[in-house]
Amino acid sequence: MAETPLLLIRNVSNVYISRRFGLFGKKEIKPVLNNINLELHSGEIFGLTGKSGCGKTTLARCILGIIDYEGEILLDGQRQKKPPPIQMVFQETGASLNPCKNIGWLMEEPLVIHRIGNREERRRKIDKMLLSVGLDPSYKTRRVHELSGGQKQRACIARALILSPRLLIADEAISSLDVSAGAQILNLFKTLHKNLNLTILFISHNKDAVEYLCGKMAVMENGKIMMRTEAETAALI
Ligand SMILES: Nc1ncnc2c1ncn2[C@@H]1O[C@H](COP(=O)(O)OP(=O)(O)OP(=O)(O)O)[C@@H](O)[C@H]1O
Ligand SMILES: [Mg+2]
Repeated sequence: MAETPLLLIRNVSNVYISRRFGLFGKKEIKPVLNNINLELHSGEIFGLTGKSGCGKTTLARCILGIIDYEGEILLDGQRQKKPPPIQMVFQETGASLNPCKNIGWLMEEPLVIHRIGNREERRRKIDKMLLSVGLDPSYKTRRVHELSGGQKQRACIARALILSPRLLIADEAISSLDVSAGAQILNLFKTLHKNLNLTILFISHNKDAVEYLCGKMAVMENGKIMMRTEAETAALI
């Protein structure tokens, strides 16, 4: 019997409704996703690429349950709980980390909200997670502005992984970084994938990055999946 996919996306479509010229303006219905079908299996790095505006982030937001859609999105064969055990990292690292707090506080916040562990257990978990993304635990006392772009992205990834999500969605996670910092983050995803058996949906304009990192990929155009490939790199991951 075929294995149940970790993420199953069936006939997903979505529209944005916007009002032109204020509250009493004419409603405009803008179709964005058009009958999307995708499957992601556990332990896979799946690449999603396509031109700006084709709907990649919108699909990620549907998967996270942040916006409404038609069709079905199942995690482990079931409709998602809200919020689903899925985390996302973004292009704008600055926007996802509160500048008033230090890295230790930002890492501990999700654990406190979910009442996980006592203080000491949380400290150990945070130190281990920081080390696994290549940041020394001494960075806990630093604020966001005291980190480089690559280090900020590492902190975002650590914060996203602290709750052990079933799926990590990386949406343009290397787009704001220079080539060398971006390459390091790609390699970090490879390492985390191997060490934590992490499943990643990697969304990027950068086709080279997708081909380097991902075992499978899909190309979107105008809200549709146009092409799927099994990258040759699969064997290397
Ligand atoms: N909140 C919104 N209201 C109305 N339209 C929106 C909204 N968010 C996105 N759109 C539109 O939906 C389409 C898809 O946007 P989306 O952000 O999903 O594209 P994308 O593939 O992620 O692009 P990029 O590669 O630039 O990040 C675009 O035409 C965009 O203008
Ligand atoms: Mg986007």
